[in-house]
Amino acid sequence: MIDKNTLTSNIIVFAKELDASRAVAKQIQQAIVAKQSAGQPIVLGLATGNTPKLVYQELVRMHKNEGLSFENVITFNLDEYYPMMPSHQLSYHNFMNIHLFSHVNMLPENINIPYGQWSKAELIEKCKIYDEKIQQLGGIDIQLLGIGRNGHIGFNEPGSTMDTCTRLIDLHETTRNDAAKDFEGLHNVPYQAITMGIQTITSARKILLLALGERKSVIVHKALTGEITSDVPASYLRVLPQIEFIFDKEAAALINR
Ligand code: PGA
Repeated sequence: MIDKNTLTSNIIVFAKELDASRAVAKQIQQAIVAKQSAGQPIVLGLATGNTPKLVYQELVRMHKNEGLSFENVITFNLDEYYPMMPSHQLSYHNFMNIHLFSHVNMLPENINIPYGQWSKAELIEKCKIYDEKIQQLGGIDIQLLGIGRNGHIGFNEPGSTMDTCTRLIDLHETTRNDAAKDFEGLHNVPYQAITMGIQTITSARKILLLALGERKSVIVHKALTGEITSDVPASYLRVLPQIEFIFDKEAAALINR
């Protein structure tokens, strides 16, 4: 039984979203460089959405101005809409190219993103292979996460349990509504997505959950101080030793510390 009053001490609050994002990028940079010094690859779990944009901007800056190389970096993205063409403007394939991959020296063969065109017949097997590939590479070193306003991590919507692996999932109403503006109407938003599971995510050796802005303050408060439950998948994270919550002061506004 997990004590619902357990509040992780691993919370860092920054005055500005740029400072919070830079702190996340710095941790990723240091981990990449440490692995390079050891002559090893690093496996990163990556997120999409508004939240990580400044993190990627900072990593691109480090690549261009400070010579940070991505040659030893292997990435696994959390999720992709389903069905979705990788070439679609709003695919997460396209998002990653725009915000990170096209600006740095990633090797294309080191990029892994769930494929929104897997057929229904092959989907279960492909998702299994996705998880197995992560394991074969030694697991994720650093997993970057945002948090949805309904408490989802990746697209693990409310109801997702700790033991879930990469799979097809129905998108929650809140998630589809939040995407409606980008898709120019709710009717254009996909109903499903492929997402890494909570087990996949929580197997990472380090997890950095970034939340920015006032619109995340209610769910941040709920995930950190409410019941630990599948109704709020992010609530599972706070008992993990490898979690670090990184907030700007608006996102952290309701946490009574
Ligand atoms: P956002 O989404 O970064 O666009 O707010 C976060 C999430 O849904 O995980």
